[in-house]
Amino acid sequence: MIPNLQVALDNNTLSDAVKSISALGNEVDIIEVGTILCLAEGMDSIRIMRALYPEKTIIADTKCADAGTTVAKNCADAGADWMTVICSATIPTMKAALKEVSELQVELYGDWTFDQAKEWKKIGINQVVYHQSRDALLEGDSWGEEDLATIKKLIDMGFQVSVTGGLELENIQLFKDLDVFTFIAGRGIREADNPVQSARAFKKEINKIWG
Ligand code: 5RP
Repeated sequence: MIPNLQVALDNNTLSDAVKSISALGNEVDIIEVGTILCLAEGMDSIRIMRALYPEKTIIADTKCADAGTTVAKNCADAGADWMTVICSATIPTMKAALKEVSELQVELYGDWTFDQAKEWKKIGINQVVYHQSRDALLEGDSWGEEDLATIKKLIDMGFQVSVTGGLELENIQLFKDLDVFTFIAGRGIREADNPVQSARAFKKEINKIWG
């Protein structure tokens, strides 16, 4: 399977996000209403993306930690297909959120274990997001063998694994031996000199490796 390309709209304002997506909406497979945009502009940001792109998969990157039913219902009512929860959320929170959206993604940050991952699988979660945190990257971390081994183990467990965190075009090659589900890029696309050209270059690279 060829990995999807997802653009993360971590814009600070809805008007800026609309400007980004007007150029990029047709270039990507999945539209992410990013955590920053969700917090800054709320559910209207999802509503607007759904109105602009009725056919696209839209994910609300809420990184929800609690109140699973309410948060997920609000996202679904606004037009999101999928939503994220943080890995430290409880199983009841995840179960509750999963009832409201068609797919729930667990965002892997900080401390989590494969035993927890087995529990997520048991309750019907199929997707996880392997994440290099933007703060860790700012402190000088980068992708390494340990990341690749962890991603492989998650794929072998049966998860669809999305990969994200400061991705640039030259990083994609690192994952060539893995069945990555989706590459999520935010700044690498949105803040490029030419965002459309950047999205196309990501797609071309993905197709070259997995096509
Ligand atoms: C931050 C996120 C971002 O949406 C994700 O990391 C992609 O953005 P970027 O490519 O700019 O790092 O989830 O918490």
